[in-house]
Amino acid sequence: MVSFFYLCDRNPPVTMPATELDHNKLPRHVAIIMDGNGRWAEQRGLPRAMGHKAGVESVREIVETAGELGITAVTLYAFSTENWHRPAMEVQALMTLLRAYLESQLAPMLEKGVRLRCSGEIERLPKDIQTLLTKAIDKTAPNTGIILNLALSYGGRSELVRAAQRLAQQCLDGTIRPEAITEERFGEQLYTAGLPDPDLLIRTGGEARLSNFLLWQTSYSELYFTPIFWPDFRKEQFLAALADYQGRQRRFGKTGAQVAGD
Ligand code: FPP
Repeated sequence: MVSFFYLCDRNPPVTMPATELDHNKLPRHVAIIMDGNGRWAEQRGLPRAMGHKAGVESVREIVETAGELGITAVTLYAFSTENWHRPAMEVQALMTLLRAYLESQLAPMLEKGVRLRCSGEIERLPKDIQTLLTKAIDKTAPNTGIILNLALSYGGRSELVRAAQRLAQQCLDGTIRPEAITEERFGEQLYTAGLPDPDLLIRTGGEARLSNFLLWQTSYSELYFTPIFWPDFRKEQFLAALADYQGRQRRFGKTGAQVAGD
C-alpha cells in the first residue's frame, strides 16, 4: 500500500510517497537536532526525563532505518555544552540514559555493522561514560556500516575555537605556515574530520534554529524543520523528511540552469 505524507508547516507540502525514495539520491550524512522531548512529556503530565527516555526509542529506530537505507552517517545532537546548565536532575537523567544506551546497544551495533564515533568535549562526561564510549568506539571501529556520530557535550562555536587553537599551535610550532590554512585543513581539525558535511539537517520540535550545532559543517545543508516532537519522530516521519530532501534542488551558489546542465 502506498502512503502519502503531508510534511511540516514550514516546508511546502510534499506528496511524494516515501516508499518511492530514490536510493541514488539519498543524503550521505544526516544531522539531527532531537528537540521536543520535554514538551512531549509535559503534554502527557510526565516528568521531562520520560520524554528523553521515549526519545531513545526514536534514536534506535532512526539509526536502524538510516543503516538499512545505506546512509553513510547520522549525527545526533544528544547533549549540548549549554545542556550542562539544565537542572542537575535532568542532566543526571540524560547521563543515565546515555549510559544505558551504550551498555545495551553495543551488541546490536556490532551485529548491524554500526560504527560509533562522537563529537564534543568528552572529557566533561562522567568517567564511566567516557570508558563505555571509548570501548564502543574501539569495538565498532572495524565495522563497515553506518557511522553513528553522537554529539555529546558539543558546541559548534567551541569546536571552531578549538580548531583555531590547534592550527595556531601548529603555526607556532612551525609545522605549517598561516597561508597553508585552507578550508580542508580547517575541517580536519573539527570533530567531524573525515565525515562528509551533512546534506540534510533535521530539527524536530517546531523551532527553526541551529542552536550551536555543526556551524561549519552545515554551510550547504538542506534544512528540514518539523513540529513533530522527537519521541514521535519515527521511521515514517524520517522517510517523509528524506522524500522532502529529494524534492530540493541543491545549487551550492550556482544558478538553477547551471545545476540542471551539470
Ligand atoms: C532536546 O529536547 C533533547 C535533548 C536535550 C536530549 C536528547 C536526548 C535523547 C533523545 C536521549 C539520549 C540520547 C541518546 C543517544 C542515548 P528538550 O528537552 O529541549 O525538549 P523541549 O524543547 O520540549 O523542552
